[in-house]
Amino acid sequence: MTLREEKLLIDGQWTASASGETFETRNPATGDVLARIARGGAEDIDRAVAAARRAFESGPWSRFTPADRQALLLRLADLLERDAEDFARTDTLEMGSPIRHTRGSVAMLVDLLRYFAGIARAIEGTTNTTSDPALFACTVKEPIGVCGAIIPWNGPLWASVLKLGPVLASGCTLVLKPAEDASLTPLMLARLALEAGLPDGVFNVVTGFGADAGAALAAHPGVDKIAFTGSEVTGRRIVEASAGNLKRLSLELGGKSPNVVFADADLEKAAAMAVVAAFANSGQVCSAGTRLFVERSVHREFAAEVARIAATLKIGDGLDPQTDLGPLVSARQLDRVCGHMDDALGAGAQAISGGGRLTGGAFDAGFFFPPTVLIEAQDDMRAVREEIFGPIVATLPFDSEEEVVARANATQFGLGAGVWTRDLGRAHRMSRAIKAGSVWINCYNRIDPAMPSGGVKASGYGREYGRQHVEEHFQTKSIWIDTSV
Ligand code: NAI
Ligand code: MG
Repeated sequence: MTLREEKLLIDGQWTASASGETFETRNPATGDVLARIARGGAEDIDRAVAAARRAFESGPWSRFTPADRQALLLRLADLLERDAEDFARTDTLEMGSPIRHTRGSVAMLVDLLRYFAGIARAIEGTTNTTSDPALFACTVKEPIGVCGAIIPWNGPLWASVLKLGPVLASGCTLVLKPAEDASLTPLMLARLALEAGLPDGVFNVVTGFGADAGAALAAHPGVDKIAFTGSEVTGRRIVEASAGNLKRLSLELGGKSPNVVFADADLEKAAAMAVVAAFANSGQVCSAGTRLFVERSVHREFAAEVARIAATLKIGDGLDPQTDLGPLVSARQLDRVCGHMDDALGAGAQAISGGGRLTGGAFDAGFFFPPTVLIEAQDDMRAVREEIFGPIVATLPFDSEEEVVARANATQFGLGAGVWTRDLGRAHRMSRAIKAGSVWINCYNRIDPAMPSGGVKASGYGREYGRQHVEEHFQTKSIWIDTSV
């Protein structure tokens, strides 16, 4: 069998990288090589940015009306719906997420594209009443230009659609750098965009590594805006690299999100959702609820219930429809998670479920880690302070509302937060007191195209989803017309 070979998409052409180099991508459940991917570098980024610039300034795309852009987004949504199963299977194969999860994701992304199609028709400037009666003053929204996107591996199709949608709705163009561990569905999306009729150069994909292709895109003087999702460390590098031409940035940098359970809550529902919040996608979720604060009177019992449910989750190859938890994305990620685990145990935490890498039989070939519930953890342990991006949750008892707010906020991050209570006043107080981009009351990790999502503090800035997401792709031009002339 010949191995699938993937090229770069630059200016509507599938091309090898300038260096001719490639790299392999593997199935984390089996270790099998899935495809060989072109390894793009600075020269390829240069060509892609030039193509995106031409497409933006003078190509057919620059003459697309809002109605044209809407129609294109709707066609793309239809094509994604047509090929949903292929997309779901490919993400599962390449990054391990269970097929039930990737199927659900594709369905949501079809809906997200249709949402952006609607926004493409609802772009509005203003007419402004100034103090000069002779003045006609208005603002218009203009697309910012060439956008770059650098995305992670934990939801490769998800991140690609989320970056592409507002670019197309606003009339910008895009150079996308997928994560080296998960390039296949971003490339498939590019193929669909061409099929939908997207003109050449509007959407370019340069696969490759962060240190060369990613860094070149972040620093490129021809790029007007970068949207980055990934680690906080890389986020800082992107900020530094953007200084050369003062690019606009939006950053989504993960977190260490608190999930707070009060004794008065629907504890059965809270426990079931605490499991999903911590372990969905094997914990490789930016807003995972990894610090599970539980009111002391119910802490032991609640932690035991979370561990009991966790132990019922079926771990295995994501292609098996029965699988609840697939492997971690890579050997590197497994090493990171194991490092955090050793650290937590060494510091005195105890695992009441899971606790170490799974081995034996089919597990040996892949990167499997079981859902792990910690008790006896302390707020200042490394595993409780740093993002792990693996299926480990620390349960932490608390005594009062005031105390738990202070502890929930005592982190550099601020992406999401959950609160479980039946007390209406407390629900409102908590939603205001917690420093995070999103607070979920009696639910967790809800997503809707109409609701903005993003972080505060070291979780980043800028918002995705909702109107604001598309707005971030515009600049406002103020137009002054002196009518007395
Ligand atoms: P990373 O932040 O290094 O990688 C994300 C993307 O950035 C990839 O496309 C990568 O190629 C690119 N990149 C890396 N270095 C770059 C540079 N200097 N300039 C431009 N682009 C660069 O994350 P990585 O190493 O895959 O995972 C490490 C940790 O990051 C995880 O354990 C997790 O804690 C966190 N993470 C958070 C995510 C989120 O959703 N917020 C997603 C993925 C990882
Ligand atoms: Mg892989």
